[in-house]
Amino acid sequence: MGFSFDRCPMNRAETKAVTTLSPPVDAGISIGTIDLTKSYGSTTSPVYALRGVTLEVMRGERVSLLGKSGSGKSTLLNLLGGLDHATSGGLRVGGHDLDQLSRRELARFRSATVGMIFQSFNLIPSRTALENVELPMVFAGRNPRERRDSAREALESVGLGERLRHRPTEMSGGENQRVAVARALVNRPEIVLADEPTGNLDSGTAQQVMGLILDHVRRHSATLVLVTHDEELARTCTDRVIRLKDGRLLS
Ligand SMILES: Nc1ncnc2c1ncn2[C@@H]1O[C@H](COP(=O)(O)OP(=O)(O)OP(=O)(O)O)[C@@H](O)[C@H]1O
Ligand SMILES: [Mg+2]
Repeated sequence: MGFSFDRCPMNRAETKAVTTLSPPVDAGISIGTIDLTKSYGSTTSPVYALRGVTLEVMRGERVSLLGKSGSGKSTLLNLLGGLDHATSGGLRVGGHDLDQLSRRELARFRSATVGMIFQSFNLIPSRTALENVELPMVFAGRNPRERRDSAREALESVGLGERLRHRPTEMSGGENQRVAVARALVNRPEIVLADEPTGNLDSGTAQQVMGLILDHVRRHSATLVLVTHDEELARTCTDRVIRLKDGRLLS
């Protein structure tokens, strides 16, 4: 369906050799929603952010999610990541029915199954880069030594080996987003949910950040849902483009 990953500028030459352009190896469903609805506010005058979204994303598939401001993109991504609860409808992500999970299971799901990247980084300001990247491993129950080593390795892999002890205010936007990418990917999630991850970055840094995300997705055959306003990026770097309008899917 117009998939042209070979034209994706972030499809780096050195990793291209091990990448196949065939459909996902595992035919299983990674994300499934049925008639998903989310409203905010009082029951008498609710604001509907999602109005019955039914969606399937296959394991290893790369999907971009487009739509005007206020169409419900972040709401949908937050539900998929277990950060918020749906008002009604079904939601199964990475084999888990999210509304059936206990708080502890949900915390584990958020740290191990999905990796989330936000436009505004969402790093903890008082913590260093290393500590921020260690956090999901704390929730996943890994021991301190292992956490530190993996966090260091993850930061080195995004080119921040020299910034381990820096706090978010002591780094540039691009550096902060790379820390956020390292944090999202350190537990090798099978699903990556990225909400306009390059929205606040210059084009060079944006390419670098997208390259890191796509590299992970490729190496681990992970599923990607990418919210973006960039039609070209969506067309060339993902398998499928879906669009939201007023809380409903268009395609
Ligand atoms: N916490 C909230 N309380 C009330 N309304 C909300 C809340 N969060 C989102 N909304 C409303 O839900 C709708 C969808 O918001 P959402 O943030 O999902 O849009 P979006 O597509 O991500 O937009 P953008 O491109 O600007 O990020 C909007 O009308 C918004 O005002
Ligand atoms: Mg949004």
